[in-house]
Amino acid sequence: MIILRNTLAVLNLAFFLVTCAAFPWSSSSRDNAHVTSHQRHIVEHQSHKLRGVFPQLTWLRDTAIEKVFGQPPKKDGSGQRKPAISHAANPNLPTTLLAKYGGDVVLRFNLTTAAEEKALAEAADTLFLDVWEFTNNWADIRLREDDVASLLGLLPKSLQRAYSHLMPDLAKTIYQSYPSITFEDFEPAPPSRRDAQTFSPALKTTGGADLDNIFFRDYQPYSVIVPWMRLMASMFTTHVRMLSIGTSYEGRDIPGLRVGVSPKNSQEPLGPRKTIIVSGGFHAREWISVSTVTYIAWSLITSYGKNAGITKLLQEFDFIFIPTVNVDGYVYTWENDRLWRKNRQQTNLRFCRGLDLDRSFGFEWDGTTFQNNPCSESFPGEEPFQAVESHRLAEWARNETQNNGVKFVGFLDLHSYSQQILYPYSYSCAAFPPSQENLEELALGLAKSIRISSGQQYGVSSACEGAVPYRSKASGSVSARMETGGGSAIDWFYHEMKVRYSYQIKLRDTGSYGFLLPKENIVPTGEEAFNAVKYFGDFLLGNKGIESTLFPEIHKDENATPPVGLANAVEAEMVGEDIETVNEWDERDWELRRRRR
Ligand SMILES: *[C@@H]1O[C@H](CO)[C@@H](O)[C@H](O)[C@H]1NC(C)=O
Ligand SMILES: *[C@@H]1O[C@H](CO)[C@@H](O)[C@H](O)[C@H]1NC(C)=O
Repeated sequence: MIILRNTLAVLNLAFFLVTCAAFPWSSSSRDNAHVTSHQRHIVEHQSHKLRGVFPQLTWLRDTAIEKVFGQPPKKDGSGQRKPAISHAANPNLPTTLLAKYGGDVVLRFNLTTAAEEKALAEAADTLFLDVWEFTNNWADIRLREDDVASLLGLLPKSLQRAYSHLMPDLAKTIYQSYPSITFEDFEPAPPSRRDAQTFSPALKTTGGADLDNIFFRDYQPYSVIVPWMRLMASMFTTHVRMLSIGTSYEGRDIPGLRVGVSPKNSQEPLGPRKTIIVSGGFHAREWISVSTVTYIAWSLITSYGKNAGITKLLQEFDFIFIPTVNVDGYVYTWENDRLWRKNRQQTNLRFCRGLDLDRSFGFEWDGTTFQNNPCSESFPGEEPFQAVESHRLAEWARNETQNNGVKFVGFLDLHSYSQQILYPYSYSCAAFPPSQENLEELALGLAKSIRISSGQQYGVSSACEGAVPYRSKASGSVSARMETGGGSAIDWFYHEMKVRYSYQIKLRDTGSYGFLLPKENIVPTGEEAFNAVKYFGDFLLGNKGIESTLFPEIHKDENATPPVGLANAVEAEMVGEDIETVNEWDERDWELRRRRR
């Protein structure tokens, strides 16, 4: 225990130092640029090599930030440190950012009829506008201020006034969303002063992972996430392993962590290892999904052996954490375009790169809609699995189940934004998943566990919704949705991998910042998602959301009475269902359920 605590302290120190860009010894850091390949070796001997590792990580971090903002000011002659970036001192935005987003705004349209949604979807398509997010009631669209008139001209009268400005100065909001390295924030202070500086007092947390962890004070670039993952695997060898899902279009490794402990010396032959995937970063600009995957991983990893519930979970299940499925896109959002969504694959149109990874899976792939244009933000490619990273992930998952004794029992695909928990099917509201009641029940439980954790409201619905036309099916209207939902990852894992509990979770917020969620949300969003993962694991262990001693915190009563619908669902579910059904859920089961419908 003491050893564990010491390693945690070292880890915290490591990332505290990484973020402090201008340490005295950082001048020698360039010499360590080649260290990456030896990283594992070095961290294994970290107690003797601290000075070797930290300048290296510092250099990685600096490099990423320099690419975005240019060279930071050097220390001046007096030895005074200067902030590398200071918003207050430098109100002028970088010219590249101004050129790209200087005149842009984000509008929210209230949608009330199918005709309105159809008109808006078609207009957005005609003008190649960027649809940020949409639900049953609204759609957020980014466009140039100059184009607002053109857009309104294409819309019915009812929509021409039904919008508001979400983000009046997009370029500034983007600028502020990049990590700010100001030494007011990060100068090492005596321990007594550090608490006060750590996080704003408004942050409410429910315990769990170490608050003082520098890694979660800001969004992190790929070049820091990968060494961080290696560090995890090196320091917690009993229950963490690094793995690779495959190689991206541009040749980057798609890294993952496998967290769990298979019981050894078991008398009984081991069945397939029940495994839960938690992924983020399918869409490059959804940074909070990336930080949240790492936060959940960190929380599970460091609670193992300390918290009985987590220890049990990790004995029963392996978790696979994949923070950045779309690695190329993620790097691109750091170095070039904060709002990039797709991967970076070349299409047949030279000037429009990128495929939408979450539209390119092979189940009910939809290449026939009006979005089948490489310039569309939702371009699904010309055939299923043309997108390299989706293909790799699917191949990897198949290989795991066919050759490595793995059975996937859960898939949590984190996205942003709009605070929703979505279950299959995404491709159509006319198709009903065979286990819809269970999917819905667990989704409601996840939403409840988040409410208990932080008070945040997350909606629950089928992933096909968020499309007005389906609400007015009775009227017989057929129309385009804001986005087609075919070829999604949750549908593919649900249907092809038979992952019984497959969800897309759209994290914070509900539109004030959208993709540009301030870093102060990293820890609270991570905490509420971690609480949801505990609920998820508890449910899969057979507790079905019933009070259990594993995680008392996820069952804290909100108002002494649970929501009526949920309580009923839970009781109904109790009859004859336990964890074994997770294993035995086979084709026959599907067919039976299908017929019963
Ligand atoms: C959009 O709908 C919301 C909630 O229904 C309402 O508060 C808001 O005023 C509406 N905005 C416009 C521009 O109609
Ligand atoms: C499949 O799994 C085996 C066993 O771990 C591994 O050797 C092989 O490289 C994997 N193949 C692919 C395509 O990932």
